[in-house]
Amino acid sequence: MSNTSQYDAMFSSVIGQDYDMLQLICPAATEMSRLVGNTVLAYPNGPEPLQAVELGGGTGVTTLALLTAKDDMKINSVDNEPIMQEQAKQRLKQWVDEGRLTFSADDALTALQQLANDSLDIIASAYTLHNFLHHYRGQVIKEIFRVLKPNGQFINGDRYGLDDIGQHTRMVQEEISQYFKVLTPINRIDLLEQWIIHLFNDESENHVMRETVAIQQLLEAGFSAITVSHRNAINALVTAKKPIK
Ligand SMILES: C[S@@+](CC[C@H](N)C(=O)[O-])C[C@H]1O[C@@H](n2cnc3c(N)ncnc32)[C@H](O)[C@@H]1O
Repeated sequence: MSNTSQYDAMFSSVIGQDYDMLQLICPAATEMSRLVGNTVLAYPNGPEPLQAVELGGGTGVTTLALLTAKDDMKINSVDNEPIMQEQAKQRLKQWVDEGRLTFSADDALTALQQLANDSLDIIASAYTLHNFLHHYRGQVIKEIFRVLKPNGQFINGDRYGLDDIGQHTRMVQEEISQYFKVLTPINRIDLLEQWIIHLFNDESENHVMRETVAIQQLLEAGFSAITVSHRNAINALVTAKKPIK
C-alpha cells in the first residue's frame, strides 16, 4: 500500500471547498492556528532565517499565523489535497513572491523522507496528524525527529483525545450538537453530512490520537521537553524539542 493511499481523502469533498465554515462550527480550530503561530514567536532567531516545514497547510489558516509570527522564517507548506492547497496558494501569494513560502503536494511522510537529517528549525502543524492512521503517524513522528536540528521544535495544535473515554465521548457529542446548531439554520445539510462522516473517521479506533499515547510516541522517538497546553475540549497544543546531542 502506498503512503498516499493510507490517507482518507476527506478534504476533497465539500469540506475542502467550504473549509472556512469550520470557523463557525469549531472556533477552537482557528484559535489553535493562532496559538501555533504564537509558539513559533518564542523560538530564538538564528543568524540565518529559520527553516520550517508545515504539515497539512490546508487553506493556509495556520500558514498565515506562522508567516506573520516570524518575519524571517521560511516555510515549506505540505498538503496532498489540491482543493485545500490551491486556496492557500491564492491567499498567500504575497509570501510566495517574497520567497518565504513554498508548497509541496506530497503527503507528509513522503515530504519528510526527502529532507536531510538535522535540517529544520521548526515543524509545525494544526489539525493534520489526527487524520493519520496510527502506523503512518508513528512513521511521521520518527521522520520529524530525524529532520529537526538539535534544539529544533515540533509544534502541533490538534485533536488530542482525552484519556477518559467517557468524558471524550461527551465532548464529541457537544461538538456534533454545535455542528447542527450552526449548519441547520443556514441549510447546509450537505456540509453537516460531510463533517459528521469526517468525525466518524477522526473518532475511529485506527485514527484517534489519544493524548497519553501521542506523548508516549514522541518520547519513544527521542523528543524531550514535551508540553501539553491550551486544552479546549478535544483540542490541545503539544510542543516537543529534539535534544541537543
Ligand atoms: C483539517 S485540515 C487543517 C488545515 C490547517 N492546518 C488549519 O488548521 O486550518 C488538515 C489538512 O491536512 C491535509 N492532510 C491530511 N493528511 C495528509 C497527509 N498524509 N499528508 C499531507 N497533508 C495531509 C489535508 O489535506 C488538509 O488540508
